[in-house]
Amino acid sequence: MNVHGSGRLSIFTDPAAYANEAAWHTRAALLRRAESVTRVHDAGFAPFWAVLRHRDVSAVERDSATFRNAPHPILVDGPDREGGPPVRNLVGMDGARHREYRNIVAKWFLPGAVKPQAASIEQSVDRKLAELAARNGETIEFASEVAADIPLRVILGAMGIGPEDDARIHRLSQELFGAQDSDVARSDNAETIVAVVQELGEYFMGLAMRRRAEPTDDLGSIVANATVGGRLLKPSELVPYYVLLATAGHDTVSTVLAGGVEALATHPGQLARLKDDPSLIPNAVEEMTRWVTPTKHFMRTAARDVELGGRKIAAGDWLLLSYPSANRDEQVFASPFEFDVARPDASSHLAYGAGPHFCLGAYLARLELRAFFERFIPRVRSLEIDGDVVRAKTTFVATFKNLPVRMELAG
Ligand code: HEM
Repeated sequence: MNVHGSGRLSIFTDPAAYANEAAWHTRAALLRRAESVTRVHDAGFAPFWAVLRHRDVSAVERDSATFRNAPHPILVDGPDREGGPPVRNLVGMDGARHREYRNIVAKWFLPGAVKPQAASIEQSVDRKLAELAARNGETIEFASEVAADIPLRVILGAMGIGPEDDARIHRLSQELFGAQDSDVARSDNAETIVAVVQELGEYFMGLAMRRRAEPTDDLGSIVANATVGGRLLKPSELVPYYVLLATAGHDTVSTVLAGGVEALATHPGQLARLKDDPSLIPNAVEEMTRWVTPTKHFMRTAARDVELGGRKIAAGDWLLLSYPSANRDEQVFASPFEFDVARPDASSHLAYGAGPHFCLGAYLARLELRAFFERFIPRVRSLEIDGDVVRAKTTFVATFKNLPVRMELAG
């Protein structure tokens, strides 16, 4: 049986499918209940297995000798996926090479090391909330006016980039990842990506050269002055590294900020519970991350024949790890379609992945999300969605195109 329908796109390859979140989850739940690992044959894509259950996504993530990130760690179209991208960042590397490149910045992202960022994050949240309180009762577009700014400044600041460049980097990364959505893309052809990558390349080589001439202790300097095998990184290694850090660290967090606010607005009982007991907020942040799951997939390639979820996977087969499906898995989460800020196992979600590629920025993301919600929730007097919520069409990192919110915050 072809449950996806041949000649058309499934929920895994159709960017528009993710924009309709409720319909996406209804469809994914049906597939997940039928089989954990399901074969997808979609027009224009090499066939792959979609891995839908928490247990199997977790097993694939942790067995990186069998399930490799190279050559294509992200869904690409075209039936022929031989070769892989010409430039590769951490996400597309495996084994010892991956460890060596990841170690360049790994120390900077350890919990104790990101903690000093807390004070400046809290200040930027306080500034933002003061601005919002001054607009009490107005309808604001929360995604672009609030959620986008904080994570962008945090990661670009950490890299040593001044606030004057925030808008430019944000636009470029939206164009890079939003190329599937015609409202966001510069144009809808492959030249978009080439032009965007070229502009990012020039920008980040400028940063690397400045930090080589005058090193500091920021992430920009760490990457610029890192050595592998006794030599400095080449431009083809430096640029993807910077692009990964600059892009992985903001749309993901801002989508959980925005999606968390949407969840609170649409679940007033849960908001009231957090106002009564703010000690639940760190757990609520995990529940928001499970609920929103901004990163929709990563891919793996089987290095050998293996059985997974009762299916025979052949060496060379391609697998899609479906984080949003795993995070609604009824075999792990009781009533997974309920948003429950006191969920006892909320932090078992796989939104940050697992195993050797586990999100490097997870502690930083948690620090930002907690700083925001610990300051925001106690001040909320009223919160409602005031218009149509629109999500971007993408198969990779979800963003909101429109999240109209009306609120009253204590001054
Ligand atoms: C809520 C926010 C975030 C979510 C949901 C998220 C999600 C993910 C996921 C699913 C992966 C792949 C994990 C795997 O393959 O097992 C990943 C990897 C990564 N993330 Fe995040 N991320 C978030 C925030 C951040 C932040 C703030 C940064 C900071 C720069 C960051 C940097 C990275 C990097 C560098 C990798 C690649 C790690 C590797 O391949 O070794 N992420 N993230």
